[in-house]
Amino acid sequence: MNHILQQELIDVAYIVAVALFVLALKWLSSPATAKHGVLAGEFGAVLAVTATLCNYEIIEYKWIIVALVVGAIVGIPLGLVPMTAVPQRTAMSHAFGALAAAMIGIAEYYVRVPNLTKFDMVEIAMEVIIGSLTFTGSLIAAGKLQEVLPQRPITYKGQNFVSLSVLGAAVLLAIWLMIHPEASHLFPVMVVVSLIFGVLLVTPIGGADMPTVISLLNSYAGLSAALLGFVLNNKVLVVAGALDGSSGFILSVIMCKAMNRSFTNVMFGAFGQVQASAAAAKEERTVRSATAEEAAAILGAANKVVIVPGYGMAVAQAQHKVRELFDILTKKGIDVKFGIHPVAGRMPGHMNVLLAEADIPYDRLQDMDEINPDFPQTDVVLIIGANDVTNPAAKTDQGSPIYGMPILEVDKARTVMVIKRSMNPGFAGIDNPLYYEDKTLMLFGDAKGFVGDIVRELSGGAH
Ligand code: TAP
Repeated sequence: MNHILQQELIDVAYIVAVALFVLALKWLSSPATAKHGVLAGEFGAVLAVTATLCNYEIIEYKWIIVALVVGAIVGIPLGLVPMTAVPQRTAMSHAFGALAAAMIGIAEYYVRVPNLTKFDMVEIAMEVIIGSLTFTGSLIAAGKLQEVLPQRPITYKGQNFVSLSVLGAAVLLAIWLMIHPEASHLFPVMVVVSLIFGVLLVTPIGGADMPTVISLLNSYAGLSAALLGFVLNNKVLVVAGALDGSSGFILSVIMCKAMNRSFTNVMFGAFGQVQASAAAAKEERTVRSATAEEAAAILGAANKVVIVPGYGMAVAQAQHKVRELFDILTKKGIDVKFGIHPVAGRMPGHMNVLLAEADIPYDRLQDMDEINPDFPQTDVVLIIGANDVTNPAAKTDQGSPIYGMPILEVDKARTVMVIKRSMNPGFAGIDNPLYYEDKTLMLFGDAKGFVGDIVRELSGGAH
């Protein structure tokens, strides 16, 4: 086959791959089509990689096979982590993607220097700076989420000045290299400075903001891949990187909106610190608790029930028991809906994925804006392992670190029941005044076990 025909076939494969990537994003936006979205993305990636491997410029495959084996050894265990660890796994994927982009950029520099145009040098420098800072930033984000690094924001005086100066130094080095591409001793300095900036960028940000940071890092990794596409003159990399970069950015904006935060506040606000007023407000107050039998009686007597799932449902893997509860209540003629907060759990769409896995009908799942007006007419809200997303302090306590975050307004319902194991706080590390209200009953226990007990009570003990 001649080279022109070969290149044309590769281009056709790239166009099909790009179409599959676009369809993947479209389909992933609804639980009903999400599985197709995953498959389309996978096929697109396999097609793009296979087409690239058919490039006639490849001299030998030995090192590519070695890289494939190493990638598989790292990738397979990463793909098998439990769903609760997906945010840190995603951060690791961004770290590896960004590292690959940065390393290819570094290799391209040394292969091409000194025959680099100014434009080539700008592309390479931007790509390597963004790739390097995304690599270390993503590692820090993964470490915070895995709790091997402190989740609290680590801040010091003049920190924004120091961080921006480090970034400024990387940019100045890039400009110098653009003017003098042959100054190859400065290139590694630019890489190291960018790596340091990645650490400085994420360390001051609290654990509660990590989801936004991760999707922002996702968009940086995409940007760096798109720039790499220009460096290598590879069209599929340009488009895939641009799709990745823009979708990551849109997701960050959606999450900022869901938490009522601005980007600058996320990046420079040191959110997640327990403020003195919030900590001091934690006084000795009493809560009312109830048994599974009592909870079953209250649920059985209701007309309208809203179930609010959270991180604890994911930890306990209680979704199948929740499905049994849904079935039994629905059979009794009770209207049961699910109230889904956009940042419930530990990743976007976490609750939707779990409830879909348990075959709970999608039309019963309602977003925060849809369900909030329903709470005043709701007889019982059953909270299963959710905490921060129901905390009324977000509306009432200006000193609270989550002040301003929109919440599920469960406190407007007639009765609130909360399944959790203890009075321990949730992700933001703060007390929840909802638990001390007269209308609230605490159901202490593991989510799966407790929901199972309620189901048993409702079905007359026949299990
Ligand atoms: P959280 O506020 O983290 O509360 C979860 C609650 O579940 C805890 O209070 C815990 O109390 C309980 N729990 C844990 N294991 C349990 C089990 N086996 N059985 C029963 N209960 C259990 O969760 P949320 O309300 O879903 O809020 C999410 C939080 O995570 C927000 O602060 C959000 O900003 C943050 N975050 C979100 C994301 C995304 S994108 N969704 C990513 C990272 C962080 P006990 O220990 O007393 O049981």
